[in-house]
Amino acid sequence: MSLRPSICAEKLAPSPTLEIKSIADALKKEGKIVYDFGVGEMNPEIKLPSILKTAMAEAVMCDATHYSPAAGDPELLSEISIDLQRFNLTYPPSQIVVCPGPKDAFFKVCLTIMGQSSPRNRLVAFAPVYESYQNIPVLLTGQPPILLPTDHHFLPNPKQLEDLLRRDQTIALIVLNSPNNPSGAVYPLGLIQEMAGIIGQYPEVGIISDEVYRTILYDDHQHESIAAYLPDQTFVLGGMSKELSGTGLRLGFVAGPETILQTIAIVEGNVSSCVNLPTQKGYAHFLQQDTNLQLRYEIRDQLRQRRDLLLQRFRQLIDQATWDPPSGAYYFFPDMYAYLGKKTPMGTIIQNDQDLTLYLLNSANVVTIPGSKFDCPGHLRLAYAVDPSTIEIGIQHLAEALNCLQ
Ligand SMILES: Cc1ncc(COP(=O)(O)O)c(C=O)c1O
Repeated sequence: MSLRPSICAEKLAPSPTLEIKSIADALKKEGKIVYDFGVGEMNPEIKLPSILKTAMAEAVMCDATHYSPAAGDPELLSEISIDLQRFNLTYPPSQIVVCPGPKDAFFKVCLTIMGQSSPRNRLVAFAPVYESYQNIPVLLTGQPPILLPTDHHFLPNPKQLEDLLRRDQTIALIVLNSPNNPSGAVYPLGLIQEMAGIIGQYPEVGIISDEVYRTILYDDHQHESIAAYLPDQTFVLGGMSKELSGTGLRLGFVAGPETILQTIAIVEGNVSSCVNLPTQKGYAHFLQQDTNLQLRYEIRDQLRQRRDLLLQRFRQLIDQATWDPPSGAYYFFPDMYAYLGKKTPMGTIIQNDQDLTLYLLNSANVVTIPGSKFDCPGHLRLAYAVDPSTIEIGIQHLAEALNCLQ
């Protein structure tokens, strides 16, 4: 018998966004001009704030390259605690753990709460669903999440959640993600309060409130956290990746109920030791400076310009897609059902959103992600934190390719 991965690990699907990134990178290497709306990151278009870069460099030069305490550098924990108050959340430093990225923070919460042998070992998420919410439960328990549908504005239905909680005693965690990847939806206060009223009746069930896009809101939308209503049940996730264009630096955090956070700190110490210290020092320095969120709102304003340009182009050029303007994050998720079933100039039929993605890639060099990767077929995800000329020309090419379908 040869060496094999575990049954759970073998079931894991690769990250769809990273998979598409490698296809786009290969095309770029061949010298092709690629209009890349695939991967959800701002770099190289919108860069890490320079005060953060300087602070990180100084930390390296001062040899701050040793281990920090497992939960995080005390200075950073204190700054995150102060920063959470800017979002009306109260968590002392002892209730915060810094992890190597928001995805890792999600993993560590699941690892701490869920287990194959626990009576409550299922995770509930809402479709369309971000990839890690699908894959990490499989890795830990061998079981996929229970996915609940959303309405045509991509908002959860609290009544369905209530029904599920009433009849299913295996639920350990519910994930909420607002502003949302991939839909760009932002959950209104009334919805958050209604969900809190329901979940609060099940104190043994936890909530992961993934708030990595909390500063990226457009128009009059406000960020609301369920943690304000259910602090003893909620794990708030945040980090540098999305707010600050720091995807490759790998710094996320989780804040939540004290006893469980102490266990997460022990898990963190055993699995990762700590997050790299220069990044922690840089983020602490940044948070000390950005007391009124101005630097983060400057990033949001650059994203809003790109969102507006993308929507304008879509409105002008692509008449059969249907969509809501995204209210937050930096994704656009139009319904493309009208283009399915059509024939390409080569005579093949576009059967589904995956065929559509491949057709757009091969005929127009436009990279998108099929909605089915988020359990929402018939849609495409476009990440628009790219340079405005990619939006201008890329959407033109996308429209031309769609117009060739008959
Ligand atoms: C909603 C959400 N949560 C968590 C993450 C994970 O971020 P990272 O990969 O930087 O850890 C992402 C990344 O796309 C995301 O969209």
